[in-house]
Order: sequence, then C-alpha cells, then structure tokens
Amino acid sequence: MKPVMIVAGTRPEIIKLASVIESLEKLNIDYLFIWTGQHYDYELSRIFFEQFKLPEPDEVLQVGSGTHAEQTAKIMLGLEKLIKKHSPAIVTAEGDTNTVVATALTSLKCLVPFAHVEAGLRSWNMVMPEEVNRKIADTVATVHFAPTKLSLINLLFEGICPKNIYLTGNTIVDILCKYKNLVKEKGEAFLSEVGLDKNNYILVTLHRAENTDNPQRLGNILKALKYLSQQYNIIFPAHPRTKNRIMELGLAKYLQKVRIIKPLGYFEFLSLLANCKTVLTDSGGVQEEAFILKVPTVTLRYNTERPETTMYGLNKLAGADTELIVRLTLQQIGYAEKMRTLDIKNPFGDGHAGERIARILKEFSEKEIAIEEPDLRETPVVTYALLDDRTGIDSIFEPIIGFNEDGEPCIQAKDYWKLLAKVRRSYYRDE
Ligand code: UD1
Ligand code: UDP
Repeated sequence: MKPVMIVAGTRPEIIKLASVIESLEKLNIDYLFIWTGQHYDYELSRIFFEQFKLPEPDEVLQVGSGTHAEQTAKIMLGLEKLIKKHSPAIVTAEGDTNTVVATALTSLKCLVPFAHVEAGLRSWNMVMPEEVNRKIADTVATVHFAPTKLSLINLLFEGICPKNIYLTGNTIVDILCKYKNLVKEKGEAFLSEVGLDKNNYILVTLHRAENTDNPQRLGNILKALKYLSQQYNIIFPAHPRTKNRIMELGLAKYLQKVRIIKPLGYFEFLSLLANCKTVLTDSGGVQEEAFILKVPTVTLRYNTERPETTMYGLNKLAGADTELIVRLTLQQIGYAEKMRTLDIKNPFGDGHAGERIARILKEFSEKEIAIEEPDLRETPVVTYALLDDRTGIDSIFEPIIGFNEDGEPCIQAKDYWKLLAKVRRSYYRDE
C-alpha cells in the first residue's frame, strides 16, 4: 500500500498535526513526514518535536525565509521530487501558510490527491496571505477536513462537493486535552520561574504580516501596550519577525515596561495563557486556545476566520486602533472572572480530530484514488451551460448532467435533482 505523506513547516502546523501523526502511528498506518523548514529557529520548530515526542521527519527541505514567491517556489521544487520519489497515495497539510499552499499545488500538479486539514476557514480578506493560501488549498484539495460547522458551511457555499467534506473538529482540542493536566501541574512553577503571579498579567502575541509590516499599525498597537503597561504587568513572547520590525522601526521605546521574551515552548506558553488576565493577540491558534480555556481575548485584527471565538463575548476585535485596544482590554479584564464560570459548548470539537483524520487518510490510501480526467459520458457531473431557447424555457442557465454518445449535452433536470439528493445523503451518512 502506498504511504500517506504529511507535510508541515511552521510552529502552528507541527502543533496541530501532532495528534494526526500520533494517530497514524497508533493505527499502524504507513506514512512519511516531510518538514519544509519554513520555520527553523529552535523555538519555532525543534522544541515542539521534543515536547510532543514526535518522530524525526523522513525528509527536510530547509527552504528557510524569503519572499512569498521564493518560499512557495522552493517548497514546490523540493516537494515535487519527494512526491515522485515516494509516490504517496495522498498528501496532507494543515492550515494556511506558504508551506500549505505549495504542498496543495504540488500535490495536484503531480496528480496525487491533497487533503486539507483545517479547511474552510475564511476571513474574507484577500490582503491576508493566509486567506489566499487557504482558498487555493481548498480549491485544489480532493478531501476537506472542516474543523467546525461554520467552516463546513463556507466550503458548501463555495461549491465544494459535500461528499468530499468531513467535519472532524479542530486538532488543537486534541493537544490541549492531552496536555491540560501537565500544564496545570507545572504551570505555577513556570510562572514563578518568570516571576509572575497567577491572574496578574496580560499576555501578548503578535506576528501577522498585516500588523508587523505596517509601521502605523504596529506603532498603534505598541502605543496601546505602553499605556496598559503603566497599570499591568505585560509579558510578550515575541516572534522573531515582530522583534526585528520593532528594532528596525525604532519602536522599542513603547515597550520599556513590557517584558519581551523569546517564543516559548508549548507547555510554557499554555501555562502563561491559562493563567493570564487577558490575552492580546493576532494569532489564529491562540484565539482558539484562549476560547477553549475561557481566557478573555482582544484580537488585534479587524476580522477573524474564527468567528466561533467571538461567542459569549470571549473574543473582541480591536484591530490596530490604540484607543479601542485599551478600552476593550480593560473591559475584558473586568469580565474575566465571570467568563471563567461560563458553561460553554466547545464548537472546536471533542479532542478526537486527529484520530478521525488519520482513519479517513487510511481509507483514502487503501482506495488509492487517482486524479483523472473525467469522462462526462460515463461519469455525469453537474455543470452549467448557456443555452439557446430550444427548450422553450425562459432561463438561459440550465444544469447539464453529462454528454451523450453524439457529444451533445444532456439536459435532464430530474436526474439533476436525483444527483443532488444523493450528494446530500452522503454528507449526512455519519450522523
Ligand atoms: C508564517 C505564516 C503565518 C503563520 C506563522 C506562524 C505564511 C505566509 N505565514 O508567518 O500564516 O501564522 O508562520 O508562526 O506562511 N524568522 C526567523 N526564524 C524562523 C522563521 C522566521 O527569524 O525560524 C523570521 C525571518 O526574518 C522571516 C520572518 O520571520 O523573514 C517571517 O517568517 P515567515 O515564515 O515568512 O512568516 P511568519 O511571519 O513566520
Ligand atoms: N505558541 C507557542 N509559543 C509561543 C507562542 C505561541 O507554543 O511563544 C503556540 C500557541 O499555543 C498556538 C500556536 O503557537 O498553538 C500559534 O501559532 P502562531 O501564532 O505562530 O500561528 P497562527 O496560529 O496564527 O497561524
């Protein structure tokens, strides 16, 4: 049987794929693990392999940093060779980074099905590189692992065939559940190591290009931190990208009272998150984790592809508006106690997403699905055609089911509805 190929290259991908890899191991599924090397600092890569006790990657591409085109192209060139060398049954990647878009495209170009973990998230903001990456990945994917009902609905609205969408839950819940107790046990020791008391500080993370690459936005956010740091302890494990920009732009003056530290390992970061008064962030994963842990959040963006986190007022969007960041942070701090007592139904899943994903990948690798040119005479699909009025119907658009032996479109509306009904049934088959 051909193997499953898993590709990752950044911090959030290794965190969110850890439970998938673990399940592939447990289920004895043949797989290959490729690390693209988009992230290469110890704190953004290796530390997670060590903490989660993950196996070494089978292949490493070492693409490093660069422009979007450079990074994407380097990953594509490297991955094409690896797909040819290992001929996997299916390739999978998680999220919305350059690693993911490059993997999705290369996989399809090599005619190997691509499965997208965390499919269907949308911020509706095409200025965000992540939105472009995830939309392309979803467009070329054969299999979509939607983490929430909202992401599933987004995919349906974009015309993705329902039978290729699986509602799995988000793998972040798996990893949180697995290490929650460890973080509880060791969390306080870590807090005292860094000289902080429980519930007595604000946590900050910031790395999104729309903030770091826009001096005005970055300045506005840092001004808000300056203001808040007069009153509260602030700890800021800074992504190297952000640290570099702060230095280049001479903005460190706003952070004299803010404690800037290196990016942390997962257990240490979760300890800070679970015990803070509130978190200010532009991270996707941190918004999810904070919601699940009922930590009040102020998101330093004007949109979010995780609207589920805004339920119960747990996550407020402040963008990069200094006054709004300060006001909403003070408000969230005021509500923190009440929020921790909320009875929340977790929309991100039950902690078994990784196992579900691994089982479906296994099914696909056993079936060895090929990406082939469809023969519309034998395999009808729904397409649409601009018709003349031969049918006598007013509408100029009609569904076409297929083509007949004379190469002419067959217009069979009743079969069209039958086909739709079949699709719907297959989507609900697990419920
Ligand atoms: C990338 C993803 C982003 C994701 C984030 C997770 C894209 C387009 N962006 O952003 O969606 O949220 O990862 O953290 O894929 N750098 C280092 N050491 C490293 C890696 C990067 O110093 O190990 C510095 C380099 O100066 C580099 C910059 O950070 O130019 C940006 O790195 P890059 O991988 O391009 O994007 P991220 O900001 O990390
Ligand atoms: N994280 C971490 N150490 C840190 C900051 C974040 O382990 O110092 C984890 C965090 O718990 C979350 C993930 O990194 O699971 C989020 O990654 P990031 O913010 O880089 O990317 P995004 O989720 O925005 O794509």
